[in-house]
Amino acid sequence: MSDRPLPIVRTVADLRARVAGWRAAGERVGFVPTMGALHEGHLSLVRLARQRADRAVASIFVNPTQFGPNEDFDAYPRGEARDAGLLADAGCDLLFAPTVAEMYPRGFATTVSVTGVSEPLDGAARPGHFNGVATVVTKLLTQCAPDVAVFGEKDYQQLQVIRRLVRDLDLPVEIVGGPTARAEDGLALSSRNAYLSPQERAIAGRLNVILREAVNRLKAGEAVAPVEADALAALTAAGFQQVDYVEVRDADDLARLGPGPAEAPARILAAARLGRTRLIDNMAV
Ligand code: PAF
Repeated sequence: MSDRPLPIVRTVADLRARVAGWRAAGERVGFVPTMGALHEGHLSLVRLARQRADRAVASIFVNPTQFGPNEDFDAYPRGEARDAGLLADAGCDLLFAPTVAEMYPRGFATTVSVTGVSEPLDGAARPGHFNGVATVVTKLLTQCAPDVAVFGEKDYQQLQVIRRLVRDLDLPVEIVGGPTARAEDGLALSSRNAYLSPQERAIAGRLNVILREAVNRLKAGEAVAPVEADALAALTAAGFQQVDYVEVRDADDLARLGPGPAEAPARILAAARLGRTRLIDNMAV
């Protein structure tokens, strides 16, 4: 454990003052936005930020606007003291942990909406989700003004939405995707895995295996349509109660591909439910 407590700021003014000090000293700043409940996946992003910059800032903000009315905003795991210790150990220099009132003061009226890439897949399954993500990420990036910001490839559609908005709004920040951290059986690490019962956890480990089998078939030149259909059948047979999607898409803008063999670069993405837990995963084809 790190013996130095992680400095925590809760206002945009304090965040900007710290970052300005580093910049004045000629230091590069890396940034990792999170919603807390940190695991090895987040910590690997912090280490990546630290490799790309002299200083690493993380934020913890459970953003209410990206949760739907029937989603888990109230139940979302929270534990700032534990998270701060993990961040300090991973080499983080500063935690920005604002309140809802700091992020969305009275009268807040602006939404950032990214068309195209945010519309299919999770955009269709979770209406309004990517408007909430795009708005809060735009705010966080302009508040911190980092040189580089790191987001996990685990949330691949989110990463592509953020890349698009940064290009479209000319935000002067480099966006880096960090590889998905996985458990021993390949399950993608997620704060929401904590909701899984032991039986559900056993089924959850099949998601990555089924995607990997699909990737191997696509790489061998098989057509997209039957591979998607077989992956859907395999997820249902494994015990997933609802499959929101399992689809092969263009890796950049997530446009639909033709039914024939996938042309690279492509990505297979899936979302499936086990009880109250919704799992997502994706892989490069
Ligand atoms: O990936 C997350 O944890 C969140 O969607 C993010 C990027 C921190 C925005 O709230």
